[in-house]
Amino acid sequence: MTDRYAVIGYPIAHSKSPLIHAAFARQTGQDLEYTRILSAPDAFADTVRCFFGDGGQGLNVTVPFKEPAWRLVDEHSPRAATAGAVNTLIRLPGRGLRGDNTDGVGLVRDLTGNHGFDFAGRRVLLLGAGGAARGVLRPLLESGLAELVIANRTLDKAAALVAAVADLESGGAMVRACGLADLGVADRGPVGFDLIINATSTGLTGAVPSIAPSVLAPGAWTYDMVYADTPTPFCRWGLAQGAARAIDGLGMLVEQAAESFFLWRGIRPETAAVIDLLRSG
Ligand code: ATR
Repeated sequence: MTDRYAVIGYPIAHSKSPLIHAAFARQTGQDLEYTRILSAPDAFADTVRCFFGDGGQGLNVTVPFKEPAWRLVDEHSPRAATAGAVNTLIRLPGRGLRGDNTDGVGLVRDLTGNHGFDFAGRRVLLLGAGGAARGVLRPLLESGLAELVIANRTLDKAAALVAAVADLESGGAMVRACGLADLGVADRGPVGFDLIINATSTGLTGAVPSIAPSVLAPGAWTYDMVYADTPTPFCRWGLAQGAARAIDGLGMLVEQAAESFFLWRGIRPETAAVIDLLRSG
């Protein structure tokens, strides 16, 4: 019988996940279907229970349900526990659900596997301290980077994230918080980062936080966790600052899907061809 999977969100019509998972299934010869589920915000828990009650095998969870999904599940993977958010629901043997979060590993794999970035010894600046930033923290800290600075408009929220990962094993990486405003002033904030990741929700609206050029080390890369058909405002900003590479989040989207697929099916799909497929429209 064909196994059933889906992505649940509100809204959901724009989601590319069905396309990605259909491509993975074709490539690996897996017999599955993957659909979109639109759930009203107050119906999320019931919709999930109904899906699994009807024999569904797994769900991806997107905005605005990643935190509610975290609260709903019976157990968390370590990276989901740190994230406080779940993007992958896995049926446990018997009853119950396990929640995982594949966003962070998707980010790190896109950078390392697809683009050849080496985190070892690198200084990384993460812009934002909301759900998107928190979601990628643990895999980032396990990447081998030397220093992670979390910069946020509201300093307290960045400090809270630093406190939340204080007890994690991070291979000796230094983690600290900073106010976003300090990055805009030469000689005041930290300087010389090898990689700057945009995890703020300014995303596609056009506003890019004000950041002094000295924040980029020579040869620095920029990475925007969102993507679009044309270069995002943050990618354009990175290139204007002289970044060696300015990458958007399309590869992260495909890599997080690949990790979910692996969790469900035990097979790791090839991602390069699927990224090309999405990029070409
Ligand atoms: P998400 O799930 O997308 O992370 P979120 O949890 O609401 O959404 O977090 C939004 C993030 O974008 C926060 O870090 C927010 O900064 P504050 O914590 O200070 O609100 C950041 N953000 C949103 N609009 C911004 C702007 N115009 N300039 C700078 N940062 C902004």
